[in-house]
Amino acid sequence: MSAADPVKLMKQEVGKAAAALVKSNSIVGLGTGSTTAYAIQFIGERLQSGELKDIVGVPTSFQAEVLAKQYGIPLTTLDAIDHIDIAIDGADEVDPQKNLVKGGGAAHTREKVVDYLANQFVVVVDAGKVVNKLGSVFAVPVEVIPMAVTPVMNALKELGGKPELRMGVKKAGPVVTDQGNLVVDVRFDDIPDPVNLEKVLNNLPGVLENGIFVNCADVVLIGEVKDGKPVVREM
Ligand code: A5P
Repeated sequence: MSAADPVKLMKQEVGKAAAALVKSNSIVGLGTGSTTAYAIQFIGERLQSGELKDIVGVPTSFQAEVLAKQYGIPLTTLDAIDHIDIAIDGADEVDPQKNLVKGGGAAHTREKVVDYLANQFVVVVDAGKVVNKLGSVFAVPVEVIPMAVTPVMNALKELGGKPELRMGVKKAGPVVTDQGNLVVDVRFDDIPDPVNLEKVLNNLPGVLENGIFVNCADVVLIGEVKDGKPVVREM
């Protein structure tokens, strides 16, 4: 990707804007994905420069853990804390009600735990992620325990979905999550009621979690390019 790549520029700007919301003495949920990676980088830079003090991060994935260590952000676990002040995380789709589809990086299960616990959940996306209705562009990721993949896929078809087992890139066979499970991506022609679909999917035996996040985002920061320059606006 070149330095002038507009999507990269949007992601960097929006990551920086989210990192600027983090205050000293706070517990920060660290999301997953290429946009949040910039937020983690900028939080680390603010910490190293002394502008921020006494931050601890709660990673939502192995990727977030690796990046936090790389940028010098101390980490903790949910067993050691009683709250999260702010979580910053990306999304694959955002609708006008700030409902999300997440899980493009197969990390939605841990992301949901951390993001929902945060007092303030900040979503960072580029303008291409904004949709009128969830499911318009992106399939809904569903994390499934391996022995239940076939019955879950059958049940997803019964619900009108088109399920597909997510396959690895530069790895033979399916994607295996940080928890050792598999991911089924389900396309729905229409998602009229995301609140209900989230519950219905999680009720299927063998499903651990799905990528529909409803009523949880407090702030959505959108990076876009205006007159050739990256700008950030709040939804
Ligand atoms: C990880 O599983 C996802 O929920 C990501 O947060 C989401 O896919 C957004 O990632 P990008 O910022 O890389 O698009």
